[in-house]
Amino acid sequence: MEKNGPDVGAREPSFTAMWCAWARNTHATVHPSPIFSDTRSVQLIPEQALERVALEMGRFSQEASDALILLTAIRHRILADRLPPAHERGVRQLVILGAGLDTTGFGLPEWGDMWHVFEVDHPATQEWKRQRITDVGWEVPPNLVFAPCDFEHQDLLSALTAAGFERQLPALVSLFGVIIYLTADATKAMLTELAALAPGSEVTLTYESPPDGADPVVQETYDKVSPVVDATGESFVGYYHESEMEALVRAAGFPNAIHHPIDELNARYFAGRSDRLRLRTIERLLTAVC
Ligand SMILES: C[S@@+](CC[C@H](N)C(=O)[O-])C[C@H]1O[C@@H](n2cnc3c(N)ncnc32)[C@H](O)[C@@H]1O
Repeated sequence: MEKNGPDVGAREPSFTAMWCAWARNTHATVHPSPIFSDTRSVQLIPEQALERVALEMGRFSQEASDALILLTAIRHRILADRLPPAHERGVRQLVILGAGLDTTGFGLPEWGDMWHVFEVDHPATQEWKRQRITDVGWEVPPNLVFAPCDFEHQDLLSALTAAGFERQLPALVSLFGVIIYLTADATKAMLTELAALAPGSEVTLTYESPPDGADPVVQETYDKVSPVVDATGESFVGYYHESEMEALVRAAGFPNAIHHPIDELNARYFAGRSDRLRLRTIERLLTAVC
C-alpha cells in the first residue's frame, strides 16, 4: 500500500504523548507499589507543557485521575512482561508504533543491546522528540533508530524498511494509545501490514470501545479528555467494540488474538492492595499473534 497525502508533518507535537509520559512518572512516583516504573520519559516534557498537563489533571476526580494514570502503566507492564519470552524465542526487533515519549529503547534489560529498536511516530512528534533528546543531553543508544511515518498518509512497512527493519525476521510490536486517533481505513491498513510480519511476531495494542456511561468514572475520563484532545487536534475517532476489534484483527490476517480483559489484569497486578487502585475499562488491550 502506498499512501501519500498533503498534511504529512503538518501538525504540532502530540500533547497526549506528553500526558502519557507524565502519567507514567506519576504512577511510578506517587502511587504506592507501582506495577511499572518510568521516570525517564517525563524528563523530555518542557516545563510549560508539564504545567498544562497538571492543569488538565486538576479537573479530574481522584478516581478518574488514578484510572487514567493506570492505563498508561499497564500497557507498558504488559509489554515488559512479553519481552523476556520473546527474547527466549529469538525475537530481536522491537517496534514501538506511535511512540510518543516512550523511552523503552533507552532502558532495556542488560540483554537489550542484542535488540534493534524502531521508534515510529508521526514526523511532527518524532522530530520534536529528537530535538528534546538533544536538548536534555541524552545519547541515543546505537541500537535505536527512528522511523517517521504518518499512519494516515504513509506506508508503515516502507518506513520501517527504510530504517533497517528486516521483514523476514520476527518482531515484538507495541501500538499503545494510537488506534483511537486513526481513521478506520488507516487502522485496517496498518493491521494488514502487521499481520504479514514474520511468524513469531506479535503486536500488543490498545483500543477504546464507545463510551456507554456504564462506569461513571470511565465516562468522566471521556467527557473531560475529549475536549482537550479536540483542542490539540488529536481527536478521538476510532472506537471499536471487543468483537469488532477481534474481527478486524482476524480479517487483517492474524491467526490468533489474545485479549487481556481488565478483570484479569486487575486480578494479576492489583489484587490485595489496600489503596483501591485498580484498572477501569477506559481502554482495552489485545495481543495479535502472527
Ligand atoms: C496518546 S499518544 C501515545 C504515546 C505512546 N504510545 C504512549 O503510550 O505513551 C498517541 C501517539 O500516537 C501518535 N499518532 C497519532 N496519530 C498518528 C498518525 N496518524 N501517524 C503516526 N503517529 C500518530 C502521536 O504522535 C502520539 O505519539
